[in-house]
Amino acid sequence: MGIITSRTRENGQLRIDEERCTGCGLCVGVCKDFSLELRNGKAVLSSKSVFGCIGCGQCAAVCPEDAITVSGREFSMDDLLPLDFLKEKADYGSWMSLITRRRSVRDFRDREVDRDTVDRILKAVQLAPVGIPPSDVGVLVLHGTARVREFSWDIINQMKRSRFFFSGWMLFLIRPFLGKEAVELFSSFGAPLLDKLIRARDRDENLLLYDAPLAMYFYSTSYSDPADPIITATYAMLAAESLGLGTCFIGTPHYFLRYGSKKLKAKYGLEGKHPNGIMLIMGYPRYKFRKGIRRSLAGITYMDH
Ligand SMILES: Cc1cc2nc3c(=O)[nH]c(=O)nc-3n(C[C@H](O)[C@H](O)[C@H](O)COP(=O)(O)O)c2cc1C
Ligand code: SF4
Ligand code: SF4
Repeated sequence: MGIITSRTRENGQLRIDEERCTGCGLCVGVCKDFSLELRNGKAVLSSKSVFGCIGCGQCAAVCPEDAITVSGREFSMDDLLPLDFLKEKADYGSWMSLITRRRSVRDFRDREVDRDTVDRILKAVQLAPVGIPPSDVGVLVLHGTARVREFSWDIINQMKRSRFFFSGWMLFLIRPFLGKEAVELFSSFGAPLLDKLIRARDRDENLLLYDAPLAMYFYSTSYSDPADPIITATYAMLAAESLGLGTCFIGTPHYFLRYGSKKLKAKYGLEGKHPNGIMLIMGYPRYKFRKGIRRSLAGITYMDH
Protein backbone atom coordinates (compact mmCIF):
# COMPACT_ATOMS: atom_id res chain seq x y z
CA MET A 1 0.00 0.00 0.00
CA GLY A 2 1.20 3.53 -0.78
CA ILE A 3 0.78 6.84 1.05
CA ILE A 4 -2.95 7.25 1.68
CA THR A 5 -4.73 10.38 0.46
CA SER A 6 -8.33 11.06 -0.50
CA ARG A 7 -7.65 10.04 -4.10
CA THR A 8 -5.41 7.00 -3.82
CA ARG A 9 -3.90 4.35 -1.60
CA GLU A 10 -1.76 2.64 -4.17
CA ASN A 11 1.91 2.95 -5.10
CA GLY A 12 3.07 4.38 -8.37
CA GLN A 13 4.01 1.82 -11.00
CA LEU A 14 7.27 2.04 -12.92
CA ARG A 15 8.29 0.51 -16.20
CA ILE A 16 11.87 0.91 -17.37
CA ASP A 17 12.75 0.22 -20.99
CA GLU A 18 16.05 -1.62 -20.68
CA GLU A 19 16.85 -1.12 -24.36
CA ARG A 20 16.60 2.65 -24.08
CA CYS A 21 18.29 3.05 -20.67
CA THR A 22 21.91 4.21 -20.97
CA GLY A 23 22.59 3.98 -17.23
CA CYS A 24 23.20 7.74 -16.83
CA GLY A 25 21.76 7.56 -13.27
CA LEU A 26 19.78 10.81 -13.42
CA CYS A 27 16.54 9.10 -12.38
CA VAL A 28 18.31 7.46 -9.43
CA GLY A 29 19.63 10.87 -8.36
CA VAL A 30 16.27 12.69 -8.42
CA CYS A 31 14.14 10.00 -6.77
CA LYS A 32 14.05 10.88 -3.07
CA ASP A 33 11.87 7.86 -2.37
CA PHE A 34 14.98 5.88 -3.37
CA SER A 35 12.79 3.67 -5.57
CA LEU A 36 15.53 3.30 -8.21
CA GLU A 37 19.11 2.09 -8.36
CA LEU A 38 21.65 1.24 -11.02
CA ARG A 39 22.49 -2.42 -11.53
CA ASN A 40 24.79 -3.63 -14.27
CA GLY A 41 24.64 -0.18 -15.88
CA LYS A 42 20.83 -0.07 -16.04
CA ALA A 43 18.17 1.62 -13.88
CA VAL A 44 16.11 -0.93 -11.94
CA LEU A 45 13.66 -0.89 -9.02
CA SER A 46 15.51 -0.79 -5.71
CA SER A 47 14.67 -2.51 -2.46
CA LYS A 48 15.37 0.71 -0.49
CA SER A 49 12.16 2.51 -1.39
CA VAL A 50 10.90 4.53 1.60
CA PHE A 51 7.16 4.75 0.88
CA GLY A 52 6.91 2.92 -2.41
CA CYS A 53 6.90 5.12 -5.53
CA ILE A 54 4.77 8.22 -4.80
CA GLY A 55 4.02 8.79 -8.48
CA CYS A 56 5.67 12.21 -8.66
CA GLY A 57 6.89 11.62 -12.22
CA GLN A 58 10.29 13.25 -11.67
CA CYS A 59 12.29 10.25 -12.86
CA ALA A 60 10.39 10.20 -16.16
CA ALA A 61 10.72 13.97 -16.49
CA VAL A 62 14.50 13.89 -16.05
CA CYS A 63 15.24 10.84 -18.23
CA PRO A 64 16.92 11.98 -21.47
CA GLU A 65 16.02 8.70 -23.23
CA ASP A 66 12.28 8.55 -22.40
CA ALA A 67 13.03 5.15 -20.89
CA ILE A 68 10.70 5.42 -17.86
CA THR A 69 6.94 5.07 -17.76
CA VAL A 70 5.17 6.03 -14.54
CA SER A 71 1.53 5.22 -13.87
CA GLY A 72 -0.81 4.83 -10.90
CA ARG A 73 -1.62 7.27 -8.08
CA GLU A 74 -3.67 9.24 -10.65
CA PHE A 75 -0.52 9.92 -12.68
CA SER A 76 -0.33 9.23 -16.39
CA MET A 77 2.35 9.92 -18.97
CA ASP A 78 -0.01 12.58 -20.45
CA ASP A 79 0.87 14.63 -17.37
CA LEU A 80 4.44 15.01 -18.66
CA LEU A 81 4.52 18.27 -20.58
CA PRO A 82 7.04 18.95 -23.36
CA LEU A 83 9.11 22.05 -22.56
CA ASP A 84 10.41 22.88 -26.03
CA PHE A 85 7.20 24.71 -27.07
CA LEU A 86 7.66 27.22 -24.25
CA LYS A 87 9.13 30.64 -24.94
CA GLU A 88 12.30 31.72 -23.18
CA LYS A 89 12.50 31.32 -19.39
CA ALA A 90 10.80 34.03 -17.34
CA ASP A 91 13.55 36.22 -15.91
CA TYR A 92 13.73 38.01 -12.56
CA GLY A 93 12.84 41.33 -14.20
CA SER A 94 9.55 40.18 -15.74
CA TRP A 95 8.64 38.25 -12.60
CA MET A 96 9.30 41.31 -10.41
CA SER A 97 7.29 43.47 -12.80
CA LEU A 98 4.27 41.16 -12.41
CA ILE A 99 4.42 40.97 -8.63
CA THR A 100 5.31 44.63 -8.01
CA ARG A 101 2.32 45.76 -10.11
CA ARG A 102 -0.04 43.35 -8.35
CA ARG A 103 -2.41 44.87 -5.82
CA SER A 104 -5.39 43.44 -4.02
CA VAL A 105 -8.24 44.61 -6.24
CA ARG A 106 -11.78 44.98 -4.91
CA ASP A 107 -13.24 47.32 -7.52
CA PHE A 108 -14.02 45.75 -10.87
CA ARG A 109 -15.07 47.06 -14.24
CA ASP A 110 -18.43 45.92 -15.54
CA ARG A 111 -16.84 43.27 -17.76
CA GLU A 112 -17.26 39.53 -17.53
CA VAL A 113 -14.26 37.17 -17.70
CA ASP A 114 -14.50 34.81 -20.67
CA ARG A 115 -14.36 31.03 -20.40
CA ASP A 116 -11.01 30.77 -22.17
CA THR A 117 -9.39 32.98 -19.50
CA VAL A 118 -10.92 30.84 -16.74
CA ASP A 119 -9.55 27.72 -18.44
CA ARG A 120 -6.08 29.24 -18.70
CA ILE A 121 -6.08 29.94 -14.96
CA LEU A 122 -7.22 26.37 -14.24
CA LYS A 123 -4.44 25.08 -16.49
CA ALA A 124 -1.85 27.09 -14.54
CA VAL A 125 -3.00 25.86 -11.11
CA GLN A 126 -2.29 22.29 -12.16
CA LEU A 127 1.41 23.18 -12.19
CA ALA A 128 1.48 24.03 -8.47
CA PRO A 129 3.59 21.90 -6.12
CA VAL A 130 1.77 19.79 -3.50
CA GLY A 131 2.93 18.09 -0.32
CA ILE A 132 2.26 14.58 -1.55
CA PRO A 133 1.15 13.77 -5.10
CA PRO A 134 -1.51 13.48 -6.39
CA SER A 135 -2.92 16.90 -5.50
CA ASP A 136 -5.62 16.76 -2.83
CA VAL A 137 -6.72 20.31 -3.64
CA GLY A 138 -10.18 20.94 -5.05
CA VAL A 139 -11.51 24.13 -6.58
CA LEU A 140 -15.01 25.57 -6.71
CA VAL A 141 -15.35 27.99 -9.64
CA LEU A 142 -18.03 30.67 -9.45
CA HIS A 143 -18.20 32.22 -12.90
CA GLY A 144 -20.26 35.37 -13.41
CA THR A 145 -21.28 38.18 -11.08
CA ALA A 146 -24.71 36.65 -10.45
CA ARG A 147 -23.14 33.37 -9.23
CA VAL A 148 -20.64 35.21 -7.05
CA ARG A 149 -23.44 37.29 -5.57
CA GLU A 150 -25.60 34.26 -4.81
CA PHE A 151 -22.67 32.57 -3.08
CA SER A 152 -21.91 35.74 -1.10
CA TRP A 153 -25.49 35.97 0.18
CA ASP A 154 -25.38 32.28 1.14
CA ILE A 155 -22.23 32.87 3.20
CA ILE A 156 -23.62 36.02 4.79
CA ASN A 157 -26.81 34.15 5.74
CA GLN A 158 -24.56 31.58 7.41
CA MET A 159 -22.78 34.43 9.21
CA LYS A 160 -26.09 35.74 10.50
CA ARG A 161 -26.88 32.32 11.91
CA SER A 162 -23.43 32.07 13.60
CA ARG A 163 -23.40 35.62 14.93
CA PHE A 164 -23.83 34.66 18.59
CA PHE A 165 -20.40 32.97 18.49
CA PHE A 166 -18.84 36.39 18.12
CA SER A 167 -20.68 38.06 20.99
CA GLY A 168 -18.59 39.41 23.90
CA TRP A 169 -19.77 36.85 26.43
CA MET A 170 -19.20 33.92 24.05
CA LEU A 171 -15.65 35.11 23.31
CA PHE A 172 -15.07 35.38 27.06
CA LEU A 173 -16.32 31.81 27.58
CA ILE A 174 -14.22 30.24 24.82
CA ARG A 175 -11.05 32.22 25.56
CA PRO A 176 -9.41 29.30 27.49
CA PHE A 177 -9.88 27.02 24.45
CA LEU A 178 -9.03 29.45 21.67
CA GLY A 179 -6.19 31.33 23.35
CA LYS A 180 -5.62 35.04 23.92
CA GLU A 181 -4.40 35.87 20.42
CA ALA A 182 -7.37 34.27 18.64
CA VAL A 183 -9.85 36.05 20.92
CA GLU A 184 -8.06 39.38 20.41
CA LEU A 185 -8.25 38.87 16.67
CA PHE A 186 -11.91 37.88 16.85
CA SER A 187 -12.92 40.89 18.89
CA SER A 188 -10.79 43.46 17.04
CA PHE A 189 -11.34 42.08 13.53
CA GLY A 190 -13.74 39.11 13.18
CA ALA A 191 -16.75 40.54 15.03
CA PRO A 192 -16.66 44.06 13.50
CA LEU A 193 -16.08 42.51 10.06
CA LEU A 194 -19.15 40.29 10.34
CA ASP A 195 -21.16 43.27 11.47
CA LYS A 196 -19.97 45.29 8.50
CA LEU A 197 -20.65 42.50 5.98
CA ILE A 198 -24.14 41.80 7.34
CA ARG A 199 -25.12 45.48 7.40
CA ALA A 200 -23.86 45.95 3.85
CA ARG A 201 -25.84 42.92 2.68
CA ASP A 202 -28.97 44.50 4.17
CA ARG A 203 -28.26 47.48 1.87
CA ASP A 204 -27.79 45.02 -1.04
CA GLU A 205 -24.06 45.82 -1.09
CA ASN A 206 -21.57 42.96 -1.47
CA LEU A 207 -18.52 43.71 0.68
CA LEU A 208 -17.66 40.01 0.97
CA LEU A 209 -16.73 39.24 -2.64
CA TYR A 210 -17.25 42.77 -4.01
CA ASP A 211 -19.44 41.50 -6.88
CA ALA A 212 -16.39 40.20 -8.73
CA PRO A 213 -17.15 38.51 -12.06
CA LEU A 214 -15.09 35.45 -11.10
CA ALA A 215 -14.26 33.70 -7.83
CA MET A 216 -12.47 30.47 -7.06
CA TYR A 217 -12.40 28.68 -3.73
CA PHE A 218 -9.39 26.37 -3.27
CA TYR A 219 -9.75 23.78 -0.52
CA SER A 220 -7.91 20.81 0.93
CA THR A 221 -8.99 17.48 2.32
CA SER A 222 -7.87 16.19 5.71
CA TYR A 223 -5.03 14.33 3.98
CA SER A 224 -3.34 17.29 2.37
CA ASP A 225 -0.74 19.64 3.73
CA PRO A 226 -2.48 22.81 5.04
CA ALA A 227 -0.32 24.86 2.67
CA ASP A 228 -1.47 23.03 -0.49
CA PRO A 229 -4.65 24.98 -1.29
CA ILE A 230 -2.92 28.26 -0.47
CA ILE A 231 -0.05 27.55 -2.83
CA THR A 232 -2.44 26.43 -5.58
CA ALA A 233 -4.52 29.58 -5.10
CA THR A 234 -1.34 31.67 -5.33
CA TYR A 235 -0.64 30.12 -8.73
CA ALA A 236 -4.17 31.11 -9.79
CA MET A 237 -3.55 34.65 -8.57
CA LEU A 238 -0.32 34.96 -10.55
CA ALA A 239 -1.85 33.41 -13.68
CA ALA A 240 -4.83 35.78 -13.45
CA GLU A 241 -2.50 38.77 -13.02
CA SER A 242 -0.55 37.75 -16.11
CA LEU A 243 -3.87 37.67 -18.03
CA GLY A 244 -4.66 41.27 -17.08
CA LEU A 245 -7.05 40.51 -14.23
CA GLY A 246 -6.99 42.11 -10.80
CA THR A 247 -7.24 39.68 -7.88
CA CYS A 248 -7.84 39.58 -4.15
CA PHE A 249 -7.67 36.73 -1.65
CA ILE A 250 -10.71 36.54 0.58
CA GLY A 251 -10.21 34.56 3.77
CA THR A 252 -13.63 34.81 5.43
CA PRO A 253 -15.82 32.40 3.40
CA HIS A 254 -13.63 29.42 4.26
CA TYR A 255 -14.62 29.46 7.94
CA PHE A 256 -18.32 29.58 7.14
CA LEU A 257 -17.98 26.82 4.58
CA ARG A 258 -15.91 24.70 6.94
CA TYR A 259 -18.30 25.04 9.86
CA GLY A 260 -21.40 25.79 7.81
CA SER A 261 -24.61 23.83 7.46
CA LYS A 262 -24.77 20.55 5.56
CA LYS A 263 -27.18 22.18 3.14
CA LEU A 264 -24.73 24.97 2.32
CA LYS A 265 -21.86 22.52 1.82
CA ALA A 266 -23.98 20.25 -0.36
CA LYS A 267 -25.08 23.16 -2.55
CA TYR A 268 -21.44 23.87 -3.40
CA GLY A 269 -20.25 20.26 -3.63
CA LEU A 270 -18.21 20.59 -0.43
CA GLU A 271 -19.41 17.62 1.58
CA GLY A 272 -16.75 16.01 3.77
CA LYS A 273 -13.97 17.68 5.71
CA HIS A 274 -12.10 20.59 4.16
CA PRO A 275 -9.90 21.94 6.94
CA ASN A 276 -8.04 24.54 4.86
CA GLY A 277 -9.12 26.76 2.05
CA ILE A 278 -9.05 30.22 0.57
CA MET A 279 -11.09 32.19 -1.91
CA LEU A 280 -9.69 34.29 -4.74
CA ILE A 281 -11.78 36.91 -6.51
CA MET A 282 -10.83 38.11 -9.98
CA GLY A 283 -11.96 40.66 -12.52
CA TYR A 284 -10.81 43.56 -14.66
CA PRO A 285 -9.64 46.34 -12.32
CA ARG A 286 -11.49 49.65 -12.21
CA TYR A 287 -8.56 51.64 -10.80
CA LYS A 288 -4.92 51.78 -11.81
CA PHE A 289 -2.41 51.79 -8.98
CA ARG A 290 0.58 54.00 -9.65
CA LYS A 291 2.89 52.65 -6.98
CA GLY A 292 3.89 49.23 -5.75
CA ILE A 293 3.84 48.58 -2.00
CA ARG A 294 6.54 46.77 -0.04
CA ARG A 295 5.49 44.91 3.10
CA SER A 296 8.32 44.37 5.52
CA LEU A 297 8.30 40.90 7.06
CA ALA A 298 7.77 40.19 10.76
CA GLY A 299 11.38 39.05 10.83
CA ILE A 300 14.30 37.87 8.77
CA THR A 301 16.77 35.69 10.65
CA TYR A 302 19.84 35.36 8.49
CA MET A 303 22.31 32.69 9.50
CA ASP A 304 25.55 32.25 7.70
CA HIS A 305 28.51 29.91 8.05
C1 LIG B 1 -4.82 35.09 3.46
C2 LIG B 1 -5.45 36.37 3.01
C3 LIG B 1 -6.78 36.63 3.32
C4 LIG B 1 -7.37 37.82 2.90
N1 LIG B 1 -8.70 38.05 3.18
C5 LIG B 1 -9.28 39.19 2.73
C6 LIG B 1 -10.69 39.42 2.94
O1 LIG B 1 -11.39 38.57 3.51
N2 LIG B 1 -11.24 40.56 2.46
C7 LIG B 1 -10.48 41.50 1.79
O2 LIG B 1 -11.05 42.52 1.36
N3 LIG B 1 -9.15 41.31 1.60
C8 LIG B 1 -8.55 40.19 2.03
N4 LIG B 1 -7.20 39.97 1.81
C9 LIG B 1 -6.43 40.98 1.11
C10 LIG B 1 -5.53 41.74 2.05
O3 LIG B 1 -6.32 42.56 2.86
C11 LIG B 1 -4.55 42.50 1.20
O4 LIG B 1 -3.50 41.63 0.91
C12 LIG B 1 -4.07 43.77 1.85
O5 LIG B 1 -5.11 44.70 1.74
C13 LIG B 1 -2.81 44.29 1.19
O6 LIG B 1 -3.03 44.74 -0.10
P1 LIG B 1 -2.08 44.33 -1.30
O7 LIG B 1 -2.39 42.89 -1.59
O8 LIG B 1 -2.48 45.25 -2.42
O9 LIG B 1 -0.68 44.50 -0.88
C14 LIG B 1 -6.60 38.77 2.19
C15 LIG B 1 -5.27 38.50 1.87
C16 LIG B 1 -4.71 37.31 2.26
C17 LIG B 1 -3.27 37.04 1.88
S1 SF4 C 1 17.53 8.55 -16.46
FE1 SF4 C 1 16.79 7.18 -18.07
S2 SF4 C 1 18.61 6.61 -19.17
FE2 SF4 C 1 19.30 7.46 -17.25
S3 SF4 C 1 19.51 5.69 -15.88
FE3 SF4 C 1 17.46 6.47 -15.59
S4 SF4 C 1 16.20 5.30 -17.03
FE4 SF4 C 1 18.31 5.01 -17.64
S1 SF4 D 1 7.78 8.64 -9.86
FE1 SF4 D 1 8.83 9.81 -8.27
S2 SF4 D 1 8.80 8.44 -6.51
FE2 SF4 D 1 8.31 7.18 -8.28
S3 SF4 D 1 10.29 6.36 -8.89
FE3 SF4 D 1 9.94 8.20 -10.10
S4 SF4 D 1 10.97 9.84 -8.93
FE4 SF4 D 1 10.73 8.07 -7.57
